[in-house]
Amino acid sequence: MTWLPHLTATLNAIALVLLLCGFALIKSGRRHLHRNVMLAAVGTSGLFLLAYVIYHATAPIFEFRGTGAVRPVYYTLLISHVVLAAAVTPMIAVTVWRAVSGQFAPHRGLARWTLPIWLYVSATGIVVYALLYHVYI
Ligand code: HEM
Repeated sequence: MTWLPHLTATLNAIALVLLLCGFALIKSGRRHLHRNVMLAAVGTSGLFLLAYVIYHATAPIFEFRGTGAVRPVYYTLLISHVVLAAAVTPMIAVTVWRAVSGQFAPHRGLARWTLPIWLYVSATGIVVYALLYHVYI
């Protein structure tokens, strides 16, 4: 199962790119494409969550090997990533629900919070993965 963190990081990176594309699409007025790309981001994140849960149910916690000043940086990123990931999950569900049920003004209001938090969670996920599996190995 040692390959699973690389899969989850890849899925996370794909979701990040889809979110940025989805945002650019709505900004240029392409609503239908925005819908499809955002639903693809939700699907990719769902797969990510599944792989992540399987990995952590079967593997021991991988200890961070960095020393010195990078440790508080790493743990600040990790803790903010985990807390905001938990917070944004129901926000994503409500944001999607509002859109698919045609409540576009409330969708837009909530999406303006959901999107930046989700982007932060995705980006810090990639940084944490890089520090854990590539930089301090
Ligand atoms: C979690 C997934 C989604 C996120 C994060 C998201 C994000 C956003 C954001 C940030 C805006 C506002 C853009 C601005 O600043 O003007 C927006 C608007 C919009 N979104 Fe989404 N969106 C998602 C899913 C969807 C889906 C599934 C649909 C279609 C069923 C959709 C349809 C729309 C429409 C029509 C608007 C324009 C609303 C208006 O201007 O009144 N979105 N979305």
